[in-house]
Amino acid sequence: MAKVSVIGAGNVGASCVEAMLHLNFCSEIVLLDIKEGLSEGKAMDMMQASKQYGSNTQIIGVTNDYSKTADSDVVIITSGIPRKPGMTREELIGVNAKIVTGVSESVLKYSPKAVIMVIANPMDPMTYLTLKKNNLPKTQVVGMGGQLDSSRFTYYLAQALNCPMSDVECMVIGGHGDTTMIPLIRFATYKGIPVTKILSKEECDKVVADTMVGGATLTKLLGTSAWYAPGMSAASMAKSIVMNERRVFPCCCLLEGEYGQEDLCIGVPAILGKGGWEKVIELELDEQEKELFRKSADATRKTADILKETGILS
Ligand code: APR
Repeated sequence: MAKVSVIGAGNVGASCVEAMLHLNFCSEIVLLDIKEGLSEGKAMDMMQASKQYGSNTQIIGVTNDYSKTADSDVVIITSGIPRKPGMTREELIGVNAKIVTGVSESVLKYSPKAVIMVIANPMDPMTYLTLKKNNLPKTQVVGMGGQLDSSRFTYYLAQALNCPMSDVECMVIGGHGDTTMIPLIRFATYKGIPVTKILSKEECDKVVADTMVGGATLTKLLGTSAWYAPGMSAASMAKSIVMNERRVFPCCCLLEGEYGQEDLCIGVPAILGKGGWEKVIELELDEQEKELFRKSADATRKTADILKETGILS
């Protein structure tokens, strides 16, 4: 059984811990926040629910004491500010880069081998920052965004098909941004049947458009960004890593030649198992999809370049 630490006990961090209790694969979860008492309170509340979850996981809440996170197998970074209605994820870069830099250094001091999963936005540049700033092997750092966007794609497809979500298989690749993500409609299936053979072009286009603004739609409704699907997406990825399940997740990895890109962290399908991401899977994209990926890569690189232009990364 594994030890997982979650940094940031806000909406996403706490939901992720709760999702991990449901999945029941950890012996210990440490929840850490900078805000006095918040993690302790949420950890205690969840511990008091755990018997009813059928879980014996120890949840430990701490205020900024990184020694308690020592020897974690996976550390999930959710600390950072969420977007407000009308904001893009990219606008969070300045504040969150400082938080992610400090947090990742503290985490690695006590768990140098932990797989680091980045959720704080803008997630693709924050993944790149974590990797480069700490000089880590590329497979040790993974970003959570594609799995969440794919969950939203699944939801909108199931609504359009009027079918259970369990019968839908689909994937979103590219950047984790409203205009950069690429819901791969041509690869989406309903129990193995391409959805493009069932839905009209207009219906497919609507599903793709709704998926791309899926996060913004929720932010508008909630007044802040969403947490249940982000928490569960991260928990499923952590489980695949620590249990060495080797499941395929669309997630943010450093590309070194794959998909024609160099030195860029962006969403692609990858196998997650012991030690982090094992292998990027190269899909056979058609010309239109390749062009969308190139555009998404350019935009994602432009945001990551802000880290260099502002001296956050040298
Ligand atoms: N160290 C530890 N915790 C911190 C730090 C820090 N340096 N800075 C902020 N935090 C904590 C806050 O105290 C807060 O409890 O991070 C938590 C963030 O929680 P929320 O404000 O509820 O934000 P949340 O919705 O969870 O989103 C977190 O994930 O999806 C992304 O865009 C989202 O970047 C955002 C992140």
